[in-house]
Amino acid sequence: MFQSISTAPPDPILGLTEAFKKDTHADKINLGVGVYQDAAGITPILDCVRQAEQRLLSEETTKSYLEIDGIPKYGRQVRELLWGDSHEIVTGKRAVTAQTPGGTGALRVAADFIHSELPKARIWCSQPTWANHGNVFAAAGVATESYPYFDAPSNGLDLDSMLEALRNIPAGEVVLLHACCHNPTGIDPTPEQWKAIAKVIAQCELLPLVDFAYQGFGDGLNEDRQGLLTLCEHCKDLLICTSFSKNFGLYRERVGALTAVAFDPDAAGSVLSQIKRCVRANYSNPPAHGAAIVSTILADASLRQTWKSELSEMRERVNGMRTLFVQTMQSLNVDHDFTFIEKQRGMFSFSGLSRLQVDELRNRHSIYVVGSGRVNVAGMTESNMPQLCEAIAAVLS
Ligand code: LMR
Repeated sequence: MFQSISTAPPDPILGLTEAFKKDTHADKINLGVGVYQDAAGITPILDCVRQAEQRLLSEETTKSYLEIDGIPKYGRQVRELLWGDSHEIVTGKRAVTAQTPGGTGALRVAADFIHSELPKARIWCSQPTWANHGNVFAAAGVATESYPYFDAPSNGLDLDSMLEALRNIPAGEVVLLHACCHNPTGIDPTPEQWKAIAKVIAQCELLPLVDFAYQGFGDGLNEDRQGLLTLCEHCKDLLICTSFSKNFGLYRERVGALTAVAFDPDAAGSVLSQIKRCVRANYSNPPAHGAAIVSTILADASLRQTWKSELSEMRERVNGMRTLFVQTMQSLNVDHDFTFIEKQRGMFSFSGLSRLQVDELRNRHSIYVVGSGRVNVAGMTESNMPQLCEAIAAVLS
């Protein structure tokens, strides 16, 4: 029966890691997958995570199933990270949360919910967007469209075209937005631009689906939620997909959440009941360990403080690499302006390198970059920077 099955192409992001592992070059550099690396090129286990795991190991009493929507305390903590304790959405009980296996799991449950409850809605994604968004939504049977986002000449946001496209989306459809640290461009709307976007979304009666995978990696935990807060000022209904892969370094534990905001607690309760139906049909109930780690850290003042400083350290290292990259490229007298990279936020930069240049980096220099030219700045270190910049200078010439 399997004779006629053809081989699928490698994943454009995770497939790069497979190729990187096979590469025998001694000084290979992986700037592909969005995983943080420290100054020594290692993806560390955060100290707060180690401490929380030790506690869990000695205190855990059962391995029985979690509820379909996960650990209730974890849901409250997710909402607190999104809005703080005193926000009207939290006090008015307008938000409900389901713990999910990673941010990708949250996106899939959101798409299953959209497919079941808003069957005519398409999901509109920024052009470009994370390479896996389309796959996840297609797998759930939801059609996708795109709206303009990236302006190549200015390496910035093409706000006018974006707003014009949003105005033409039929009411009731869904707009996917990256809360911060836009993947793959690293370009986020300014506070003023968020206001304009939120107003159009509300006026046109569109549903924001917010992908929030990098809270704390842009400018800080509070700063990075400003776009979400602005959306919430204008829109009554929202879906928010949280990932704790990056900000807790819990990539392989698959820990995330889908939070839905509705007009009132009754509507929120109905939405949660449908989300739970989607979860039950998909993976039944979520894995416990990652969420238990996050919950332990957030509930303990000292662990929480350790987490915040470790997160700041990761953020500052990445931003430092942006500056060092620009300086190193300048020192090589390359006729190409990379100063825009310092203005971008998060792990990624849209480098502007062409597909051909990306291939040359990989084939001749063992440097791995996503085909779109997306570079993971978190994979840069002081020691690999000269080699990286010289290779980029070589492919540019
Ligand atoms: C990325 O964009 O590299 C990350 O979100 C990891 C992934 O799953 O693609």
